[in-house]
Amino acid sequence: MAKLSLSPKIFDVLDFGTPSAERDISRGLEKYFVESAAYQRVRSGAKTILMGNRGAGKSAIFQVLAKRERTAGSHVIELSPEDYSYELLSSTMAAEHAGAWAKTGAYAAAWKYLIYILVMKALARKGMRLTKGGGREIHNYIRDNHGARQLGPLSLLVSYLKRLEAVKIGPIEAGVRTRELDRLYKLEEIHNLLPALRKVLDDQRVVVLVDELDRGWDSSEDAKAFVSGLFQACVSINGLHRNLRVYVSLRQELYDDIPALYEDAQKHRDLLERIYWSEESLLELIAKRIRYSAHEKGFDTEALERAADHECWSAVFAAPPGMARDASFGYMVDRTLYRPRELIQFCSEALEQARGRASKLPVPYSAIERSEYGYSAERTKDIAAEYRSQYPGLLSVFEVFRNHPPTFSREELELLCLELAFGDIPTHGTGSWLPLCDPDDLIEILWRAGLLTARPTEGGRFLGSHQVQHLNLAAVQRFRVHDMFHASLGILPKDA
Ligand SMILES: Nc1ncnc2c1ncn2[C@@H]1O[C@H](COP(=O)(O)OP(=O)(O)OP(=O)(O)O)[C@@H](O)[C@H]1O
Ligand SMILES: [Mg+2]
Repeated sequence: MAKLSLSPKIFDVLDFGTPSAERDISRGLEKYFVESAAYQRVRSGAKTILMGNRGAGKSAIFQVLAKRERTAGSHVIELSPEDYSYELLSSTMAAEHAGAWAKTGAYAAAWKYLIYILVMKALARKGMRLTKGGGREIHNYIRDNHGARQLGPLSLLVSYLKRLEAVKIGPIEAGVRTRELDRLYKLEEIHNLLPALRKVLDDQRVVVLVDELDRGWDSSEDAKAFVSGLFQACVSINGLHRNLRVYVSLRQELYDDIPALYEDAQKHRDLLERIYWSEESLLELIAKRIRYSAHEKGFDTEALERAADHECWSAVFAAPPGMARDASFGYMVDRTLYRPRELIQFCSEALEQARGRASKLPVPYSAIERSEYGYSAERTKDIAAEYRSQYPGLLSVFEVFRNHPPTFSREELELLCLELAFGDIPTHGTGSWLPLCDPDDLIEILWRAGLLTARPTEGGRFLGSHQVQHLNLAAVQRFRVHDMFHASLGILPKDA
């Protein structure tokens, strides 16, 4: 097939979109959205808990879902970062040890209360349509109880928690306490409205999306109870009616940081959808963006539309000298942890680099090389920052690999891990976790975080945690620092 060549004018205006779905959605994300099987399962309601790493596409799925649900006439409630503040929760709520006050259960009740109120408010807004089939009851309740007082979502949640807290640890006679608590846990205030709500939901649909729970995450007792309580509430509310769906997204590290969640894993395993990408689906994602961008800028994109994904790629990015036409894709994707945001950023930076020097497409391979250091340095910092509450100071552990050859035998790596744990190699801010790590733990942490890849069989490929879910790391004899970190850590190109 003839090589696809693009007008030099496209070079000046091409873009790959923004790195976050919240900004992408107003620029046409829906049109260049990659619709995975994961999306389908979420959309159908089969899966309601969405799990994925930073930049993997949790918000993208929620944004597109919200847009399509709205178009179909559903009410959509989006709870956004400003709506939760872990610091505020910790400073407002009494500590667990201040009383027998099982926080997760309390947070679950408060979440249920909040979500039901928000759902009823959304439905009551269209009060006129509510007059039949139970609508009036809901309308009246909202008018009488939540009409004048316009509390924000977090205040509503906290107000309910405060009611529970007062009964749990306040000076109340034991018998009364049990009765009061029972009332609050059963959401007595709104319980009798649920049959009416069910009826209303027969012909109206409400979707609640809770995203970005990790903003401001501080790993505190309240933060953990907040999220595990939300999981419980989500499971319970989703049982009310097929037309009421609560979706929650969560980052993998946060999930791992909340014992109440993974101990309870079997309760929500069947609701959990993990986001995975492959090289093919990432190529599809970039190709879609190339076609869309050219089309938006008014170019004739017939040839692009007909071209295969890899042809779109090689029309925009040149190959390394002497290599296959689309080899630069392999080079770039090998420097990611298979997250769309990484590839979008790397591609955008390479394009920027080329703009200063070249005048037409494809972007020369040298521009990719020139953009690599900045990209790699940023990724190294960001990955360490993702783990700041679980493994503070992780960046200084990454730094230990600076100027080393890329691969390690198990013995070499174990020795390095021991030296790190004993403090023979100094690191910063790692006192809370590193001294407790034996070499196997630390290897697992570095593999999960993406710094290390592991070769399960002699002569086979090195694999990262973004490529395989499980690997028997204990049996692995050879490890390698992932290519994404090489430029920033000055990893020597070849083993010495
Ligand atoms: N299925 C998809 N199709 C097209 N683009 C996608 C898809 N998934 C993600 N993206 C793009 O990848 C980038 C990162 O995605 P997104 O913002 O959804 O990540 P996230 O998982 O919400 O990250 P964070 O944890 O930082 O909130 C965005 O530019 C988004 O538009
Ligand atoms: Mg997001």
